[in-house]
Amino acid sequence: MLPLLALIALVGIAGTLAAPFVAAAPAPARVHLTFAIGIAPLILGALGYFVPVLTRSAAPPPRVLAAPFAALAAGVVAVAYFAAPAAWPLAYLAAAVIELAAVGAVLAWMARRARASIGAPHPCVRWYLAAAACLAAALLAVLVMPYAPAQYVALKRLHLHLNLLGFVGLTALGTLQVLVPTAAGAADPRAAARLDADLRWALAGTVLVAAGAAWLPLAAAVGLFFWLSLAIRIARDWFTLYPGRLLAWHGAPPSLGAALAGFTVTLVLGALHGGGTLDPRDAVLAFILAFLLPLVTGALTYLAPVWLRPGAQTPWHESVRAALGHYAGLRAGLFVAGGILAGFGSAAGTALAALGLALFVVQGVRAVALMRP
Ligand code: HEM
Repeated sequence: MLPLLALIALVGIAGTLAAPFVAAAPAPARVHLTFAIGIAPLILGALGYFVPVLTRSAAPPPRVLAAPFAALAAGVVAVAYFAAPAAWPLAYLAAAVIELAAVGAVLAWMARRARASIGAPHPCVRWYLAAAACLAAALLAVLVMPYAPAQYVALKRLHLHLNLLGFVGLTALGTLQVLVPTAAGAADPRAAARLDADLRWALAGTVLVAAGAAWLPLAAAVGLFFWLSLAIRIARDWFTLYPGRLLAWHGAPPSLGAALAGFTVTLVLGALHGGGTLDPRDAVLAFILAFLLPLVTGALTYLAPVWLRPGAQTPWHESVRAALGHYAGLRAGLFVAGGILAGFGSAAGTALAALGLALFVVQGVRAVALMRP
């Protein structure tokens, strides 16, 4: 299921990159191709994989396994609405309700698993609970829109920041702090304490940026400071522990490290667009190119072999990983550079990122060839 959701996410991102060439693709349709069709179902599916690993418990029940597909259906409805709003004027509300039911099922299940775990649950599980709560709050903001038309723009800003920093950011930064040491093959002794201490700052940062972007710009500046300082602390610890692995040409770590760099760059671009220097839509595109692309391709490089053949790690897993991670450092450089250029409104940014994505597709085809018995 997860390889399929990852493939859909990459197709969604490719659709977002191609959408400017399609006349009938307004900006919200373009953005929701990546986020609502691609990323939200992938994240909900990934939570169903990571939470049992972190709480050492059984596989999720069927309703949690079905949640990513309900989210996918919601995403399709949302994109159809944005492509032709007059054809089905209330469809976005239906999409929000379906997505809310999906995330509600995952949230309730994660809370039960966290409560049932022996001893304190892994601190990353609390990051996941906070992330899912942010998605739920972002969807509630959409449901309030028809009742508060004067607040439409504020609610949209609330929705998008709760989603990008809260739902995607908290899931990703929580997971990266577990995944980078695993992929680098050496423990990070500070990871658990950092996850434990930083969640309150990450969550406060998200709420301040979201509410600040909606109503009070000064609060957004404080929230941005919280997020930037914790991203810089993670980068400092990783560069002390894994400098050679993060700056390598090949493997998952350079791509995962680039995702953190891309996230940090997007925070700075966010400050510039908040200050009116850049177009906010370019900042959303930069988030996709500089952060999501190295994140998804890096995570797939390490995890796809485990997802495809769970159980004991064999030379087969290593060879598929090596194929997917070939020149991942170069690929990640193209994504981050592309994101920065896109953030400043240059079409060359999308071209660079598309080149990186094409490289990953070629490597994916080589990896599939290795999968034949
Ligand atoms: C499927 C359920 C969803 C619904 C019904 C929904 C609804 C909306 C609505 C009504 C807007 C305002 C559009 C406009 O007037 O420009 C919006 C904007 C936005 N949403 Fe969602 N959304 C959903 C899921 C998501 C998810 C999961 C994410 C990210 C993880 C996301 C990210 C965004 C972003 C970035 C914008 C700003 C788009 C722009 O400025 O062009 N949405 N959404």
